[in-house]
Amino acid sequence: MGDNNKRGQWGSSIGFVLAAAGSAIGLGNIWKFPYLLGQNGGFLFLICYLIFIAVLGIPVMLGEFALGRRTQLNPLGAYRKIDKRFSFVGVMAILTPFLIVSYYNVIGGWVIKYIVSSPTGAAANLDFGAFIGGTEALVWHLIFAALVVFFCAKGASSIEAASKVMMPSIFIILIVVIIRSVTLPGATEGLKFMFANTDPEAGFSFAKSVPAALGQCFFSLSLGMGAMITYGSYLNKQENLPKQAIVVPLLDTSAALMAGFAIFPAVFAMGIEPNSGAGLAFMTLPKVFEKMPAGGLFGTLFFVLLLFAALTSAISLLECTISFTMDEWNWSRNKSLAILGVSTTVLGAIYSLCNGSILGGIMIGPMTIGGWMEFIPDYILMPIGGMLMCIMIGWVWKFDEPIREITNDGRIKFSYIAIWKACIKWLSPLLILAVFIIKLVEFLGSLA
Ligand code: TRP
Repeated sequence: MGDNNKRGQWGSSIGFVLAAAGSAIGLGNIWKFPYLLGQNGGFLFLICYLIFIAVLGIPVMLGEFALGRRTQLNPLGAYRKIDKRFSFVGVMAILTPFLIVSYYNVIGGWVIKYIVSSPTGAAANLDFGAFIGGTEALVWHLIFAALVVFFCAKGASSIEAASKVMMPSIFIILIVVIIRSVTLPGATEGLKFMFANTDPEAGFSFAKSVPAALGQCFFSLSLGMGAMITYGSYLNKQENLPKQAIVVPLLDTSAALMAGFAIFPAVFAMGIEPNSGAGLAFMTLPKVFEKMPAGGLFGTLFFVLLLFAALTSAISLLECTISFTMDEWNWSRNKSLAILGVSTTVLGAIYSLCNGSILGGIMIGPMTIGGWMEFIPDYILMPIGGMLMCIMIGWVWKFDEPIREITNDGRIKFSYIAIWKACIKWLSPLLILAVFIIKLVEFLGSLA
């Protein structure tokens, strides 16, 4: 990858896959997916999630790759080029990573705290709730945010290089932790929760869980905000887009499932409730490591890899926002980084303080400011952005263009054109709209 004036290209096909997977695989897989699964009843949520990945995630990702590679532009430029009326979708596509990276950095800070607390086993006894709401969390947040800015300043090519090392390591460490987790006495209960639990009391509710699964599908695959449009724009013309649009979601889903295997058997074996929310990975895993030989070492290793996963994603999130100010407003990289780095850090600090007594008591409607910072991207910006993208590709962009892009001008065979078209034109936008309405009704109901 290079700068935007002379559009760079990925060094190799595998480099692209790892970088796209590096963007997709992050806290969303290892932190958010397990906690949503735990809150939403396990198996039924998993089914919803997998259906969304198959019928929405893969087609929309292919659409984003095609749009990016065709236009060779950033998301806003790409939308504007196809149809001026859709420029606002491009603007939404910038606002989303801006909000996400703000709170993402806070979680990244928690990860660093857990790295330094793991070697001695202190992580197992940390009072998670008190920690995340206090002022100490702000210090770790600042350190993480500074790391992200530092890597971003070195240019985006570092993402590809870093991903090449970090991504394979993440899978290896996950396997080690899974082996420990599933061999604990009582671990099968956790597997049952993931793969067989249909108990309606366990947390699954249609109006809450289906929209959560949709939001997570977009979040986890980095869709609906132009990240994959940008990545597609760096792809060379020989690359096989349909293949990549399957491989990346496959890797991402595998990582999420593996995180589930690492966490749930242990959660149940330790008799911990699976629905503890955002603290699940932080409160449970240290307890697992405490019980294994050389646990301090494995625990540290695990959180280091979680840090890598978080870093590759956070760098690419920040890169999405600064590529906008660099392209559109002609800001230099350093100016963009300074202004956006500071503003996302301030916003993140507000998110962080909402977890405790300092700002946690201030409610805007049903949620704290921090709650809204997660709610708006997950339930509004990403789904609506994804829906408008489908509408634009399916109804505004003449269909033979994306098809030509996807088949490399007819040179590669893509047997699923009819299915893909149907997904992009009809199924995806209607499904997103339906889920959006369900969420809206649930939300308005919760206000009443
Ligand atoms: N997919 C990332 C994760 O699961 C988070 C993310 C969302 C992201 N959108 C992105 C990362 C855009 C990079 C770019 O953690």
